[in-house]
Amino acid sequence: MLGNKAVKVALLISMLGFVGLTLSTQASAACNLVSTKDGSPLGIKEVDTDTPQAKEFLETCINPYTKAFANDPAAAKAGKKKFGLYSCTQCHGPNAGGQVGPSITDERWQYAKHVTDKGMFETIAGGSNGGMMTWHQQLSNPDNPSTDEILKIIGWLRSEYKGGGDKPWLK
Ligand code: HEC
Repeated sequence: MLGNKAVKVALLISMLGFVGLTLSTQASAACNLVSTKDGSPLGIKEVDTDTPQAKEFLETCINPYTKAFANDPAAAKAGKKKFGLYSCTQCHGPNAGGQVGPSITDERWQYAKHVTDKGMFETIAGGSNGGMMTWHQQLSNPDNPSTDEILKIIGWLRSEYKGGGDKPWLK
């Protein structure tokens, strides 16, 4: 009988352990952003001032503005405004069609991962080895764009897409 009790206790303990493991996996569910330069973790953190959209992205890698702006040009203007505010226009042109920097509205991507919002965010936030500077305020300086501002820019860029094929970012 003693043996039976020990088995029950052991079972209970292992069940508790399993629940604990499940909870901790959920809590650490995160969009693991990596540098376009070298693949190392970007280390962008959720902060108190983050919008719900920014928090959602940092947890899931899904940019809520992309779908929200797809059929709402008036809302998408919020992203276009930021694109101008941070002078992205100087290299990419007023409508992101390309100038000294590449077009961001055609189907030619500098890096294959730019068909995902996560990949495009990584290049804007952390820069590239091919001429894109590091823009995220946590990685450069506080005057630069926040997570939410970069997400709005991406949402607008997606709404301006003029290339062919399907649009994987809307899936
Ligand atoms: C000084 C010029 C310059 C400025 C300013 C600039 N970029 Fe870029 N950008 C580049 C260059 C050059 C590349 C190509 C990088 C590479 O191939 O590694 C690029 C690449 C990109 C790409 C990938 C394009 C593609 O077709 O795959 C995105 C997205 C982008 N920039 C967004 C932005 C945003 C948003 C801003 C403003 C916050 C900005 N850029 C400001 C020069 C610039």
